[in-house]
Amino acid sequence: MKIYDLQINHLTRPLGFMLNNPSFSYKVACDGAKRQVSARICVFGPDSVPVYDSGESGQIDSLGFTPPLPLRPRTHYTWKVSVTADNGERAESAETWFETGKMEEAWQGQWIAPQPGIVNARLFKCFSLPQRPVSARLYICGLGLYEAYINGEKAGDEYLTPYCNDYDRWMQYQTYDVTDLLSTENELSVMLGDGWYKGRFGFQGQKAVYGDRQALICELHVRLPGGQEQVIISDDSWLGEESQVRFANIYDGEVYDATLVPAPAQPVCLLPQLGTARLTERLSLPVRVTHTVIPSEILHTPAGETVLDLGQEISGYLSFRAAGEYGHTYKLEYGEILQDGCFYQDNLRSAKQEYTYVCDGNEYWTRPHFTFFGFRYVRLTGFGDNPDLKDFLGCVLCSDIAQTAILDTGNALVNRFAQNAVWGQRGNFIDVPTDCPQRDERMGWTGDAQVFCATAMYQTDAAAFYTKFLYDMAAEQRDRAGAVPHVVPSFHMAGSPACAWADAAAVMPWTVYRFTGDLSLLRRTYANMRMWAEWLCHMDDQTGSHRLWQAGAHFADWLALDAAYPESCIGGTDIYFIASAYYYYSLHLARLAAEALGENDDAKRWHTREDEVLTAIRREYRTPSGRLAVRTQTAYVLCLYLGLMPPEDTPALKEALDRAFEESRGELRTGFVGTAYLCRVLSRFGLNNRAYDLFLREKYPGWLYEVKMGATTVWERWNSVLPDGHMSDTGMNSLNHYAYGAIMEWVFGDAAGLSPVKAGFRSARLTPHPDPRLKTLDFAYESAVGRWRSAWQVTGENSFDWQVTVPFGAEAELVLPEAEVAGFAPEWEYTDGAMTCTVGAGEYAMHITFKRAPWQPLLIDLPLSALMENDEMRALIRSCAPSLETVQGAEKLLTMSLRKLRANHNNPLPVWEQKRLETALCTKCFGKV
Ligand code: BGC
Repeated sequence: MKIYDLQINHLTRPLGFMLNNPSFSYKVACDGAKRQVSARICVFGPDSVPVYDSGESGQIDSLGFTPPLPLRPRTHYTWKVSVTADNGERAESAETWFETGKMEEAWQGQWIAPQPGIVNARLFKCFSLPQRPVSARLYICGLGLYEAYINGEKAGDEYLTPYCNDYDRWMQYQTYDVTDLLSTENELSVMLGDGWYKGRFGFQGQKAVYGDRQALICELHVRLPGGQEQVIISDDSWLGEESQVRFANIYDGEVYDATLVPAPAQPVCLLPQLGTARLTERLSLPVRVTHTVIPSEILHTPAGETVLDLGQEISGYLSFRAAGEYGHTYKLEYGEILQDGCFYQDNLRSAKQEYTYVCDGNEYWTRPHFTFFGFRYVRLTGFGDNPDLKDFLGCVLCSDIAQTAILDTGNALVNRFAQNAVWGQRGNFIDVPTDCPQRDERMGWTGDAQVFCATAMYQTDAAAFYTKFLYDMAAEQRDRAGAVPHVVPSFHMAGSPACAWADAAAVMPWTVYRFTGDLSLLRRTYANMRMWAEWLCHMDDQTGSHRLWQAGAHFADWLALDAAYPESCIGGTDIYFIASAYYYYSLHLARLAAEALGENDDAKRWHTREDEVLTAIRREYRTPSGRLAVRTQTAYVLCLYLGLMPPEDTPALKEALDRAFEESRGELRTGFVGTAYLCRVLSRFGLNNRAYDLFLREKYPGWLYEVKMGATTVWERWNSVLPDGHMSDTGMNSLNHYAYGAIMEWVFGDAAGLSPVKAGFRSARLTPHPDPRLKTLDFAYESAVGRWRSAWQVTGENSFDWQVTVPFGAEAELVLPEAEVAGFAPEWEYTDGAMTCTVGAGEYAMHITFKRAPWQPLLIDLPLSALMENDEMRALIRSCAPSLETVQGAEKLLTMSLRKLRANHNNPLPVWEQKRLETALCTKCFGKV
């Protein structure tokens, strides 16, 4: 038995994070035992003094346990857990630690700023210590961005600190262990840049969003061998000068002049007006260079340019060896795609994305400090005609989170798409879940974040990442009576809440809870849900109490292909239908969360409202004969996904959805909203073949079309790049937008078939949807409770092999269509054509043979002639005979109807009409097909 992944608030060994009421979690891997019977958590303070001991307890939930543990500021705690399993086995974890920040402790350091006129400052102070310290911590925040150095060495391995949040409300300081960097004579220096705080950003034109002066506050707490403490603080004894960074902006890039010799340093100014009330321990995960990419080639374009191709679109920068003479200038321009073989940047709009470096005659590996780029191609100037590939390295900047999904299928294009979805996430997880990393946006668009959240939770351990985002969101909501801005942080942008975007406040906390099972985390983010539910109810009351959301501007099914006119970004599905659907959905989720947390009054209130909204939706959008009045793919999908219509409408809705695909020649027409649920609904409602048709389609529109066109991330639009290789529109067209990557939720949850039933995957449903076109699929998922696996291989016309792993402490409900199962013989229960069984931790392998494989076309899908000739059909006629008058009667009915269909042959019936007749016929003859 092994205990692993010990975390505090979903962070591994957090140093200086906001940790109030910390939640302890861990995982267990074990061959023999199935679940934990009891556990014991012990926490120790400095000098190993015990500060908490749960005792052996049956009440400790490995997904999140919150001990009554008051924490002290700037304190290093260690902890361990031991677990007793149901077979009597016992194990103890290795010891791990967490350390608090300054908490409520007052700041001794003061805000300091460079003298006015200094563009990008370097502030510094020299100091001596009597001895090398035994421990040292630097608590620091610099505005807009900062990099701290001790004796020339960078403190920590993080970039773009203090990260991106609403600085009007809170400013995060970071804590670094700098023990090893200090000696007796020291220089502490800090470079400052503009970043999100001061530089142009968002849609605000050129002005600084949050502040107009760079600033710094810090405290360096040093413990000496004798136990004495010394604190070096930011104050008016510091000096400031120009740094070599001549210009830096998130969108536009950086200019670094290594030749610059700064004018004599000047005393700094004190900035007491900034105050320390907003200074808060960090929630942001570290942004690090999480991966490096070796460039694939240097190209010489028809326009005479030298362009480096990284072979992969990333977010970050290209590091290079600068070895030019004094004054030599290198310029790097970053782009996503070539056009007609040449470098291209038009889709970046106003973002310049370039880096300039002026050499001082020495050799350096350079990198930018206060910017990042979204790119695959880099136009090189100043590198000569034949630069050496070995002098370049792609560095990926990303919030450092563990990857939790491993997927492999029998289709190389699918495997590449799965990687693209991971790269799409990487490229857009730089502290904030952004829409894109390259053009002049790079903001936390809530709709994109909402639709992608579950996929991200499958792909990575993103709980702490989203906790920070939801904290930002709640801060915005508090000032807006619960309303959620389009982007979080809002960068002061106005706009009334838009459906599916603002609903991130309900969907995301619930999704994170479904994946983590940590109630204490849900309790923190419940604030978002509650404020949002209140806003919705209030909005409705203010606009006529119709129990619908019928007001405001909405993005709705953004970028769907059924828009009223081609230039419109807003899809063809009635925006107020979508808004009302999300009104219901958000209240529904808020109610579920309230129930989970025992917030009974809230739960009751929202339950009532939820029912009222559902009734109103049916009154408004369901015709008297029970059809849906909004006839788009997205509308049918939303209805089925959210259960908006009465259950008796389900068959008709399915048929209508199927028919909608016939009308579109089998192509998807969905945008951000519909696409998120499209294949999930198709697989769950008996149209799995269609889900695969869409997913495996290699022509436009479809996910694999992008792959075939050379995509290495996920595009913003279905037609971002046209079949001839040209960008479809330069107005708004990113090649690294993760929203449509949400299809991976279907791959994991439906194709592999693993989805949570109880939060945190304590219990999960495993219902695979194999398909012979994919042949094999192997999905391993490191969930909150441990490692799952669902792997299938189609082995014959109507059979497949399936291997399942259920982790320690979990339970799985296996669900299959009725079939023969060999190799594994638990008690299966049969209901409605499906068979289910429940299994505990362990590994299971089975061979499944269907009478009719779910991937085989239904009889009604066969051509008419084949239908007549079909043995099975004829056998069915015979077996159904008792319920009909005679076999001949049944055959006659069938023949007559087929004749009628044939008579129309020269003037063919629309396909769906033909299908309707066939369905009616088959149902009449055989009860079911
Ligand atoms: C962003 C989107 C976002 C949308 C909202 C775009 O500019 O890039 O992904 O959700 O605006 O309308």
